[in-house]
Parts: sequence; C-alpha cells; structure tokens
Amino acid sequence: MTSPPQRTAASPTPVVGLTLGCDYNPEQWSPTIWEQDVRLMRQAGVDLVAINIFGWSHLEPRPDEFDFDSLDRVVNLLHRHGIRINLGTGTASPPPWLTTRHPEILPMAADGTRRYPGGRQAWCPSSPIFRRRALALVDEVARQYGAHPAVALWHVSNELGCHNAHCYCDESAEAFRRWLQKRYGTIETLNDRWGTTVWSQRYGDWSEVQPPRLALSAGNPSQTLDFHRFSSDELLDYYRDEVAVLRRHSTKPITTNFMVTAHIRNLDYWRWAPEVDLVANDHYLDHRLGEPTAELAFAADLTRGLATGRPWMLMESSTSAVSWQPHNLAKAPGELLRNSLTHVARGADAVCFFQWRASAQGPEKFHSAMLPHAGTDTATWREVLRLSAALNRLDEVAGSTVEAEVGLLFSWQSWWATEGESRPSQSITYLDQVHRAYRALRELGVTTDVVAPTARLDRYRLVVVPCLHLVTDDEAAAIEAYVAAGGHVLVTFFSGIVDHDDRIRLDGYPGAFRDLLGVTVEEFVPLLPEVEVSLDTGARARLWAERLRVTTADPVARYVEGPVTGVPAVTRNSFGAGTAWYLATELRADALRDVVREAIRMAGVRPLGPEGDGSVEVVRRRADRRSYLFVINHGTADIQYTAAGIDLVTGDVVRGLVRVPAGDVRVIREESA
Ligand code: GAL
Repeated sequence: MTSPPQRTAASPTPVVGLTLGCDYNPEQWSPTIWEQDVRLMRQAGVDLVAINIFGWSHLEPRPDEFDFDSLDRVVNLLHRHGIRINLGTGTASPPPWLTTRHPEILPMAADGTRRYPGGRQAWCPSSPIFRRRALALVDEVARQYGAHPAVALWHVSNELGCHNAHCYCDESAEAFRRWLQKRYGTIETLNDRWGTTVWSQRYGDWSEVQPPRLALSAGNPSQTLDFHRFSSDELLDYYRDEVAVLRRHSTKPITTNFMVTAHIRNLDYWRWAPEVDLVANDHYLDHRLGEPTAELAFAADLTRGLATGRPWMLMESSTSAVSWQPHNLAKAPGELLRNSLTHVARGADAVCFFQWRASAQGPEKFHSAMLPHAGTDTATWREVLRLSAALNRLDEVAGSTVEAEVGLLFSWQSWWATEGESRPSQSITYLDQVHRAYRALRELGVTTDVVAPTARLDRYRLVVVPCLHLVTDDEAAAIEAYVAAGGHVLVTFFSGIVDHDDRIRLDGYPGAFRDLLGVTVEEFVPLLPEVEVSLDTGARARLWAERLRVTTADPVARYVEGPVTGVPAVTRNSFGAGTAWYLATELRADALRDVVREAIRMAGVRPLGPEGDGSVEVVRRRADRRSYLFVINHGTADIQYTAAGIDLVTGDVVRGLVRVPAGDVRVIREESA
C-alpha cells in the first residue's frame, strides 16, 4: 500500500484541495442573520463564497455615489472567519436609475420591441453608456478590494449572455457592421460570403446591412450565423473590458461563469475559454430532458474540454430543486452527493451552489439552497454536511486529470448552423444528436473527452463526430490526417455539409468527409417523426435517410424497407491506416450502441465502466503516480466493481470486488498506481 499522498499544488482553484462554495446574497438579509450565516458556513465547511453578484443598486444607489459600507462588513466578516471570497464585479444587472435615465441601454428583440427592466440582465451588450457605467463600477470595486487578502477570485458579471446575448437595437446594428467590416474588409466580400445574390439582397453600402431582424420569411442563414458569432464576440469584448479594469488594481485570478448546459447556446465558449484564468461552469439538472444525469456528465466533460483537460470549477449548481423549469423536482436522497461527485469525477476541483440561504422574496424564492427555508433540521442540510465531509476526504484528488481514450467533437458554430430556419428536418437538432452519440459511449462504460474540432486528436483511439454540419477546411483536413495515420472515427449524418460561410460543399454530400468515409450522397431523404424503418441487421432507424452510394466503403447495414430500400445506412471505410464509420440515419439507442460497441472494439478502447443503462459511471482521475477511481451508482440496486486500494469515502482498504450500495459513490485511491 502506498503512503497517503501530499496535497497537490496543481489545482487551479484558489483554495487548497477540493473547494466547497456558494453564492451568497447578504443584501437580502439583516446583519444579524449574516453572523449566523457565517457560523453555519463554517459548520458546513464552506471555503469560498461568491458575493456582490447583483450588488450594483446597493453599491451605487445614485449615479456616482458609492456606498461600500455593507459590502465592507460582509467582506471583513467572511475574512475573519477564514472564508475566501469570489468577488462579483456587481455589473450583472443595472440599477433602476440607470435604465430610467437611459432607456436606450435596454435590449431590443428581433421584432424591434424593447425589453423592460424588472427582471435581470436588461442591458444591450453594445451600449456604450452601459459599458461606461459598468466599468466605472468595476473600477470602484477593484480599487476597494483588489488587494484584499480574502479575495481569492474575481467573478465578472454573471452568466454573460444568459438573457441578453442577442440585441437588435440600432447601437447593436452599428456594432455588427463594424464587426463585419473588420471581418470582410469590403462590402463585395460580404456579398460573396453571404450569397446575397439570392432573393435580391445585394448590398451596395455597409449602412444597408442589418442584424437579422424579424422578417416576413426565412432570413439569410449566413447573416444569422455571423450575428451569432458577432454576439458572442461582443460579450467577450465586454468581458475583456472588465478584465482590463480589474487588472489595473488587482493581480487575483479572474473568471466568469459559463453556461455549458442544455438549451443555452449563445456563446462560443471555445473562443472564451482561453481568456479566463480558470474555467468555471454553472450546471443544473434539466428534467425537461430524457436523461438529465447523462446530460450532467456530458456538460462536465465539455467543461473539462474547455479547460483543456485541466481541473475546473463548478461555480453554480443546486442542492435540490430549481425554480425555472415547468416542474421543479427535488433531489432524491443521495442525489446531491452523486451529482456533485460526478462533476468531481469528470474534473471539477470545486463544487459550489446557488445559493447559500434560500431567498424569502423575489423570483427565486422557491429555489433550493444549502440552507433551506426550514433551517438546519432538514434533509438538504444533512446532505450538504455529507457532501462537505466527502469533499474533505477527497481533497488529495485536486489537481489530478481525467483519463479518456475517446474524443467527441463539439462546436457551437456547427450548432448555430445546424439549426438554421430552413433545413431538411426540424426534428434534427444539434444537441440531441450529440447527446445520443455521447449516451451510447457512456452506456458502454467509456469516458469521453468533449473537445473542439481543432483539438489535437492523436491522443484518442476513437474520435466521434456527431452532426458536425459546419466544418472548416482545416478541421476536415485534421480529421482526415488523424484517420490516415491510423485513427478511428465515427461520423454521423448531416456532418461535413457546409463550409465556414454556411455554403454547401458541392459534388455530393457529405462534402468535407466524402473521401474519408468512402461514400457519396445525392439526396437527403428525411422521414416523418412517426416513421421507423428496419435495416438488414434487424436495427430500427428513424428521422433520416440518404440516397447514398458507397465508393470505397463497405456497407455495414442496409434498409430493407422505406424510401431507400437496399441503400446502405451504416458504412465503414478503410482510409490510410485508419477506419472511418458513417451513420447515415438515426439508429434507435440499442442499435446505435451496437455500432459504437463495434467501433470501440476495433479501435481498442478499454471501457472502465460496465455496459448498461448508464446508471453506473466509472471514471479515473490521475496525477503523476496516483490514480483515483470514481464509481458512481445512480441505480436502485447495489453493484460490485473490481478494484484495489483505499476507498477514500469510507476509509476502507479494498481489494477485489468492491460493493457500491444503491445510490452511493466510492472513490478508490488505486494501489497499482
Ligand atoms: C443561474 C444564475 C443564478 C441563479 C441560478 C438559479 O442562472 O447565475 O443567479 O439565478 O441560475 O438556478
């Protein structure tokens, strides 16, 4: 048995070991409650507290009049108790005096109507007045606390682009034109790249170009795509401006909370991630999805991809129900621990919650918190203490990195392009296709890195390319080179269809991958949602088919019924020293898993987890000579897993079959490492 390792310094989070943290909104409570809060935070082992996220109207109650008294008290109170601070710049929501004096900062929807204040984030990302005012606040906050010893991290704004990513006002239109001018140089180039000959859209002058405001028919998809890119860049520019102000007064790390989660797709985080000192994500289980736990694992793996494999921070999650879904489900006993440790297993070194104390007022009064309305004699509080104890026992895991043999390519730009207004089938959505591929891998016990199409691929035995509709020439060439050199790839339908400008790649689909896959497709043949067709392997397929011919590929499965009977639906091609699979239809989950099982077998992928319904997740984190095996049992029956080492959760020495009770988690520091 190896001796207990030293804590690692490799974790990028501002606290030694694994961090437990929360958002705290003391402005909602009286100072007598603050004292109680901090005592309970200590009892719960809270290391890091995010404050001043929505502080603007308190800090600057009237224009240019700043009042730091209560924030000072909270900062010093936390400091006295040894709790580190994740300090918000306070700019997330403008105060009413600002929107009243300057209604022109309010965002405008695509139909030209303004959005009133009354909610949050009511500001246009291109508004110079908003920016000037917000940066003035950041300057004051940074001057005040930039060197404060309790401040461990800066939290810029909050979930940038959650509500206000797309603004269509005149100010935004001007900014969009400037962005386009920088990108294309001349209006002729823009005309060419946007294909404005279609529907008489040729522009003679920049001033004629608009954001994609609500029109009578479908708009120009290249314009819409560029508006997505612009909107993401515009907020990134805003983030950079806040960072520049903070840097004048502080050397502390700076970040902002991303929203890598289902349904929010406004920012291209591949462009953002290199700009934050530490990747931080907010994640909430979404019960509108079929399998929220699978989506949690996916989001965590994608967040790790953004952190280029390094540890990252879960900046927000919930202890139990949220308050913004149609049905806000409470967490079952043990679920809080499993959810949190799934993030840790997949690379998080910090687990933080929104929020510390459940609000008594406001739109989030029904949102769970670490400290519920009912106080400490509650299941949630006990679950929080249990998590805290587990994180303490797992401190040594901090800084280690996750092992994965499979890479899955993910692209926000492809997401935007895939879901253009006019497309072959509205039933094909990007995230759904990505999640299906991911779930098949997860159910086969495989750990997957979710990475950018520009990522280094040669470290993977298999690369999965789901619905990569928009792909650049360079990205396609890198995928081809990877396979030519002996890599294995699995591409799913609607990939490789358009270039960077959203222009169809001609001479047969799937344009960019035709040679790699050894097929050519002359026509898409979408199926109505209720139609299912059989393949000669017995598999069932739906939603999508293609009039496909193999050129060099071998057919693996063909349709035996439906509009393209006899045509291959699944193919495999030898390309250079490697293998390229193509799925030209949406296979039912069991059939998809059969294909993926064969692909991972041929690629030599060694799954860590058992094959099943995904209710057992096994992930390994490694650091130098140590490794940690996370075995998470979401199921209702006990399971057994073979391992040897020390179970850090129970402290038991284990060798051979380890029992993981239903709903529980084991983390084994492995002996062999
Ligand atoms: C996040 C937000 C928090 C809180 C939370 C509730 O989007 O950053 O302020 O609203 O959701 O789930």
